[in-house]
Amino acid sequence: MTHSLSHADELTIDTYAQILRSGGVVAFPTETVYGLGASAHQLEAVNKIFALKGRPADNPLIVHVSSYAMILEFAAVIPDSARILIQKFWPGPLTLVFEKKKSVLDAVTAGLTSVAVRMPEHELALALIDASGPLVAPSANKSGKPSPTRVSHVQEDFGNHIPVLDGGNCQIGLESTVLDVRKSPFVILRPGSVTASMIQEKTGLEVIDIAGIPDQIHHTPASPGLKYSHYAPEKPVRWMNSDECEGQLHDSTLYLTHSGDYTPVKDRVVNFNRDYTLMGQSLYDWFRRSDKLHSLDIAVQPFTESDSSTCQPALENRISKAISRHNEK
Ligand code: TXA
Ligand code: MG
Repeated sequence: MTHSLSHADELTIDTYAQILRSGGVVAFPTETVYGLGASAHQLEAVNKIFALKGRPADNPLIVHVSSYAMILEFAAVIPDSARILIQKFWPGPLTLVFEKKKSVLDAVTAGLTSVAVRMPEHELALALIDASGPLVAPSANKSGKPSPTRVSHVQEDFGNHIPVLDGGNCQIGLESTVLDVRKSPFVILRPGSVTASMIQEKTGLEVIDIAGIPDQIHHTPASPGLKYSHYAPEKPVRWMNSDECEGQLHDSTLYLTHSGDYTPVKDRVVNFNRDYTLMGQSLYDWFRRSDKLHSLDIAVQPFTESDSSTCQPALENRISKAISRHNEK
């Protein structure tokens, strides 16, 4: 793959790739969120990722690649239908779950027989992986914190202990769609900005979205990460319609609204004006900011069918998870 990087970027990438090749950990930008990278072929490096994040060992990692040849180091089989997806959506925010090769480290897949692989759409990430080899990269946050979409978020969680490749703010701001392509129909395990209808449209193949179905219905969680509370701020989150605000919106509530017809009356009302791309880019930043603002809670305007956008299913999923995390407590 060819990249047009500045000389300074090339030098930084060489240095960081060297750290990764010698078993170290580097945070790097992707189009979705910042990743905490380590060599996917080095057990000690992979173990460092679990330790640094405080991540349960049964939650597998996504392998990030920069070339098609690298997929074959991990996937035992690439079904023909998945090849179409790769052609249409890679590089991009779509993670594919394949049958894994025997040689893949158990620590990467948490002992599963499958492996998740994606090719990020970010020139710094691709150049880094070209130079370092394939990387496991969970979101670069401490387990349980919202994913980082800015360099400052990574530093909030890890201080200056981990080198961060600075790519500015992430373009999408919500984690990739995770899609199991081992069987037909494909199954969405985690919604992201590549939606079921986009996949159906580009491939003509059927897709089921199980992300909205509670685990009691599909008894074994297909994606171990689904059972953990992610994406959540410290403060409680709830849905609230703008017409319910009267009387319910106290001074200390951070209200995230998007419909465009709500007139902000208080400082802590953010109106995304139907710009769902912006809402995706900044949701986790608001979650993190609310922990620093002296707000007591966060209210979010629910979505209706007329709010449809490619980010909407992922936004709805992450906000619902943040709400249920507090209901569990
Ligand atoms: O956008 C993203 O995917 C970001 C950036 C850095 O690429 N990464 C990310 O990684 O969100 P992480 O570790 O925070 O989330 C990975 C999710 C988890 O829910 C995990 O359970 C699931 O992917 N996963 C990983 N391997 C899997 C597998 N073999 N089968 C099913 N789910 C898997
Ligand atoms: Mg994560």
